[in-house]
Amino acid sequence: MDIGGSGIKGCTVDLDAGQLVGERVRIDTPQPSLPEAVYAVVAEVVGSFGWEERIGVTFPGVIKKGVARTAANVDKSWLGTNVAEGVEQVVPGTVTTLNDADAAGLAEMRYGAGRDRDGVVMMLTFGTGIGSALFVDGRLVPNTEFGHIQVDGEDGERRASAAAREREDLSYPEWAKRVDRYLDVLEAGVWPDLIIVGGGVSKKAQKWVPLLSTRTPVVVAELRNDAGIVGAALAAAEDLGP
Ligand code: BGC
Repeated sequence: MDIGGSGIKGCTVDLDAGQLVGERVRIDTPQPSLPEAVYAVVAEVVGSFGWEERIGVTFPGVIKKGVARTAANVDKSWLGTNVAEGVEQVVPGTVTTLNDADAAGLAEMRYGAGRDRDGVVMMLTFGTGIGSALFVDGRLVPNTEFGHIQVDGEDGERRASAAAREREDLSYPEWAKRVDRYLDVLEAGVWPDLIIVGGGVSKKAQKWVPLLSTRTPVVVAELRNDAGIVGAALAAAEDLGP
């Protein structure tokens, strides 16, 4: 299951292939995105597969031992709640929770653009916010929040997320400049060997990725929209939740 600020998506996953089994189910995130309302949607999606086994659930914020510690793009009432326990009350199986970008990164490292890549790899997801996942020789450093570094006095994701492009009606070249500046500041503090860019906007990668002038090589995520779901399942199967 992948809980996002705008949609809640789920599917059963073939972990040998790193692919969804059949069609994923997506339901709009209830507004306001209160925990109980979101849990009900998660239960509905899980129920539609008749699934009773382990479930991986992503959350768009810092999550430690099941507890939500930040909530930048969902209702603030999530703060301090135990998401794993909340979901477990409405589904039959046990639940592993993890940050959404961490899940996407795990999937890319195992099956996609980060396969067999050692060293320091950073996955960034551009969507409503900017999510980050950091890997050192394939091992996740959980809950990095590089979307919230300060860029010219402003929250990084406020200026450079995909939502900022839409909200401010920016062209791809205009937005690419924002992303470039964001990456510039990021690169001042971290020296990854590879950056993987994902999120819905990676479908249009040719319109903006070639315009970036980072010192770090940038590659486009391969699993696209499914990375969060695949990574959640992987985390559940291998107990990778923080
Ligand atoms: C949150 C991150 C999340 C990202 C993408 C950010 O605002 O702080 O935890 O991964 O959005 O959803």
